Amino acid sequence: MCGIVGYIGYRKAAPTIFGCLKALEYRGYDSAGIATSHDGRITVKRDVGKIAEVHKKHDLEDLEGHAGIGHTRWATHGAPSQLNAHPLCDCTGRLAIVHNGVIENYMEIKHELLRKGHKFKSETDTEVAVHLIEENLKHGAGRKQASFEEAVRKAVARFRGNYAFAVLKAGEDKLVLARNGSPLVIGFGNPLSASGKGPHSRSAENEGNEMFAASDVPALLSHTRDFAFMEDGDLVVIDRRGARFEHEGRPIKRKRMHVSWTAKMAQKEGYPHFTIKEINEQILSIPAALRVDVGKAAKLMRGARHIHVIGCGTSYHACLVFRHLLARLAGREAEAWVASEYKEGAVVGPGTLVVAVSQSGETIDTMLAVKHARAHGAKVVAITNVVGSSLARGSDANIYIGAGPEVGVVATKTFTSQVAVLTKLALAVAGKKLAINGFSKKIKTVLALAPKMKEIAHSLRTTNDYFFIGRGLAAPVAMEGALKLKEIAYVHAEAYPAGELKHGPLSLIADGVPVIAIAPASGETHHKMLGNIKECKARGGKIMALSDSPHLLEEGKWKVAMPPVSEELSPLLYIIPLQLLAYYSCLERGHDPDKPRNLAKSVTVE
Ligand code: AGP
Repeated sequence: MCGIVGYIGYRKAAPTIFGCLKALEYRGYDSAGIATSHDGRITVKRDVGKIAEVHKKHDLEDLEGHAGIGHTRWATHGAPSQLNAHPLCDCTGRLAIVHNGVIENYMEIKHELLRKGHKFKSETDTEVAVHLIEENLKHGAGRKQASFEEAVRKAVARFRGNYAFAVLKAGEDKLVLARNGSPLVIGFGNPLSASGKGPHSRSAENEGNEMFAASDVPALLSHTRDFAFMEDGDLVVIDRRGARFEHEGRPIKRKRMHVSWTAKMAQKEGYPHFTIKEINEQILSIPAALRVDVGKAAKLMRGARHIHVIGCGTSYHACLVFRHLLARLAGREAEAWVASEYKEGAVVGPGTLVVAVSQSGETIDTMLAVKHARAHGAKVVAITNVVGSSLARGSDANIYIGAGPEVGVVATKTFTSQVAVLTKLALAVAGKKLAINGFSKKIKTVLALAPKMKEIAHSLRTTNDYFFIGRGLAAPVAMEGALKLKEIAYVHAEAYPAGELKHGPLSLIADGVPVIAIAPASGETHHKMLGNIKECKARGGKIMALSDSPHLLEEGKWKVAMPPVSEELSPLLYIIPLQLLAYYSCLERGHDPDKPRNLAKSVTVE
């Protein structure tokens, strides 16, 4: 979704912001822009398209000034266009704003402002914010003008919905930031060295400190690893001296944290795409996740009357794996919920433990479900990849999956790390230990299937309908495999528990339709899979068999021979060839796997 960057300091703001925006590209967007303040004036450059295209047209780095804000927009209100791109300005052109989220009551405020004579240029909800701040500036205490922060404070108090804002004002050496529901982090930059021998030389004009703000940590990693995380209801002023936090009008201190991620970890390091880099990183990330301590969460779970496990998209598929494992290994029942359905459908109260799974820890649907559960007395275990994320901060126990930054929009290594941690958790609840000897070697064997998956993707390059089937633990793997293919190859892919085929979808299996059958021999149901595969073959379906059983492999037009693996560890291995299939199918069709159309890494609007 939208990405925000803010900078104030001794460097030229525009090139600094430009670099940070590029590091935020993975969030998904359709237009981009930067505004800087210099000599008492604000200058804005923005347009529709990717940052590189906007830069080619407008030279985004060529803006004077040491304070500025930047934005990548994922359109909600108003089509992607130059007029709707951020930053947006007020009537005077002395205020500029960037926004992530949705102001739900913007129409009512807009009508009010129109009556007062404000002129709107865009179709966005955001524009009301900048005009309202302009209006508030006119009405301070007594006859005085309000201060910049006062005007922003008063404006955000009017908004319903989720937002993160960064606001710039001509002639003010500061940025004002506000957050409610959409992420915003504050980055502490490098002070100039007194000797002038440090990373930046001292000069009379630009000496001092530097401060950053951004939608998430990876955007700023090339400048800082020291962060403070804004909470809902926070307003922050950053200037060259540092950051001043207030919460609902009162000054507050927020903890400064050092993150272990480095800028290098968020680079391609010789790979053509982040997606394939991250698929390959599973050789290290899976074993690392299998070593994560889950003790506190397991204790909470043992004491819980009801267990709910919630997530969206890929994270939801990890929840389904967990539900199955918990039942089989620990004999405990867990309800698995798509987070956006939770509030309306789930019965939650004291005694319920909610396991919230989200790689970003910022997904709005998951956050709102957790808020609902907490309000009803539930306890929350968060499973996230991002240190300091909103979900992690508001939970009773927090498990970091430790996958390192995932830049590709589609989740790959974070899925397997989630599943690894959840497998450990299910075993811990059951009081069992995990046997992982030789597992790294198996991951390596499966990653070495890349040329084979590339070949299969090539032979299927003109095919646009796929079926994925599996039973037991392989059913959510089938769903995740189909999701990967949809997300980056833009083809139609359906996933079913194999037993469901006969109840309807079998009517769609006709000559040449590929059926990807996930059938580890360790699964109790693999004999039944054989029957399901035969049913598809009898109707002309072309089988891609993923198995370690020679009988099952024999049935495949494409045979993907897997190493033998215990049932509980099978999802971790079987998803890898499906990720590779999606990656190569995407390349075969000429798409960019790292930035799939219409999708965003972190979904921060409902
Ligand atoms: C996965 O490839 C997708 N990008 C998407 O389904 C994602 O898993 C979902 O939006 C949830 O994100 P989260 O894990 O950050 O909460």
